[in-house]
Amino acid sequence: MAKKIVVLNGSPRPKGNTSSLVAEFARGAKEAGSDVTVFELDKMDIHGCKGCFGGGKNPEHPCVQRDDMDKIYPVYREADVIVLATPLYYWNFSGQLRTAFDRLFAVAECDPNYSNPKKDSVLLMAAEGYGFDDALSYYKNLMKHLGWKELGTVLAGGVMKVGDISGHKELKEAYELGKTVAGGNGL
Ligand SMILES: Cc1cc2nc3c(=O)[nH]c(=O)nc-3n(C[C@H](O)[C@H](O)[C@H](O)COP(=O)(O)O)c2cc1C
Repeated sequence: MAKKIVVLNGSPRPKGNTSSLVAEFARGAKEAGSDVTVFELDKMDIHGCKGCFGGGKNPEHPCVQRDDMDKIYPVYREADVIVLATPLYYWNFSGQLRTAFDRLFAVAECDPNYSNPKKDSVLLMAAEGYGFDDALSYYKNLMKHLGWKELGTVLAGGVMKVGDISGHKELKEAYELGKTVAGGNGL
């Protein structure tokens, strides 16, 4: 069955290394018959969580704030797979991704037990170095907390400038992961 896949791309560089991983992942997933929606978070008007615990009253607009998260919420609800794509910024996800992800808490607030919708997840990352350990640990703790199933990660180290990732094996890994995830057999 065709999967619904949503990509939250936290890189501000449309032709950058993370975006190249996203493009290859999406190509593989689409070829395997899945719907892929990519949100370029940096281009969107997304504000930080206010921590008000006042959301969840209206599932159509789960957050008290009205901004471009209202474009993400309905797609997120329907999605089978959430792809987190980000450059490594100071050993963690970019602010763009962190900010958007915090705001998904409003969807959990729609449930009396603050249960998050169950999803599968993928992580795509690019970095100048290879210090992914802290980000990976954060990601794994987050997935454990949410109860989401990890389907695979692609971590492209050694890439700094736009275009550096060209010819790197991680592009093929992202393409193959897209195909596998869309086909239903996570790695
Ligand atoms: C604010 C900032 C923080 C960064 N922190 C790290 C880091 O902690 N480790 C690292 O290896 N690279 C770091 N980098 C380099 C980026 O991860 C690298 O350039 C990556 O390829 C950018 O991905 P993009 O092309 O998708 O924007 C940082 C870059 C910026 C702008």
